Amino acid sequence: MSDLLGVAVLGTGHMGADHIRRLENVVSGAKVVAVADPDADRAEHALAGIAGASTHTEAEAALDAPGVQAVLIASPGPAHEEALLAAFARGLPVLCEKPMVPGSAGALRVVEAEARLGRRLAQIGFMRRYDAEYRQLKAVLDEGRLGRPLMLHCVHRNVSSPPDFTSAMLIDSSVAHEIDAARWLLGQELTAVTVLRPRSSDRAPEGLLDPQFVLFETDGGALVDVEVFVNCGFGYQVRCEAVCEAGSARIGEGHGMLVTSAGAAREEVAQDYLVRFADAYDREVQAWVDATRQGRVTGPGAWDGYAASVVAEAGVRAQESGARVTVDLAPRPALYE
Ligand code: NAI
Repeated sequence: MSDLLGVAVLGTGHMGADHIRRLENVVSGAKVVAVADPDADRAEHALAGIAGASTHTEAEAALDAPGVQAVLIASPGPAHEEALLAAFARGLPVLCEKPMVPGSAGALRVVEAEARLGRRLAQIGFMRRYDAEYRQLKAVLDEGRLGRPLMLHCVHRNVSSPPDFTSAMLIDSSVAHEIDAARWLLGQELTAVTVLRPRSSDRAPEGLLDPQFVLFETDGGALVDVEVFVNCGFGYQVRCEAVCEAGSARIGEGHGMLVTSAGAAREEVAQDYLVRFADAYDREVQAWVDATRQGRVTGPGAWDGYAASVVAEAGVRAQESGARVTVDLAPRPALYE
């Protein structure tokens, strides 16, 4: 019997296909044994060149396929709750792309289901926790050399948004990453959110509120602001500056080669997250495979996924109402203490 971890991948779109490639070619200790996608052609395409994996149009059929020991969920957010509960019912460890579940009620059901099991099975795909720069920033903040963090200034820009992207998704899909990163970097919960916006860019599709300016308050007395601009046109940029009592630390300034010529310096800007966070995804999936093979769950879990969904939901209400909205988390089950 193979000692490689047999993984079922649910959803073979952008992220699913990239994770399949990663599990097969980059990460050690795992192999893809089943995939599911209602679009059978897409599933076949994502598996091209990979022998021995079965394809399914139903997620549960993939979970029940021979050799499946763990699940990677890369279907759209609304499909996650059902997939997570199906994995829990089978005792399968899961790496679930963000958002864990869009909407706090469904996210709480996942937390409660895992708490009932009495052991953690889910890791949520907040890959920034595995990015080298973010880890460096976290280490500096934890070390305390710069004193108490007072503010985080964040920037999240995409070249363009997918056709079905809504104004709410700037918060619950894009800023979802900053929500988790801020909770993790500061070790604090986000307690209130206000959303302001300038006039929308002419580059934004009709009706899309883009850019937006999101301001979070935390239970540790810090402020976190995020400029989210998903049709900036020029590149994928993610920045974060922590301003502390005795100094500041900034990440995300540049990742490309700097070419100096003819009296000017020019640096390439990544065009998407798969390039900017390639190393982070690799590290995330390797860490998940390693931990899973040891019967452990490390990294952001269901509680983090739940908290992010509650904060994002409050953010969408703040965006729609123009008012400051407070965040109410359910009591944290002992499993996540
Ligand atoms: P996509 O639209 O490219 O692919 C989704 C795929 O899932 C499609 O092939 C679709 O046919 C399939 N699908 C739909 N319902 C399904 C079901 N019930 N079971 C299995 N497959 C199903 O979407 P994309 O961009 O790959 O996003 C997938 C997930 O990854 C989302 O949760 C998204 O938020 C997340 N994501 C995470 C990123 C990160 O940086 N961590 C970046 C981009 C997306």
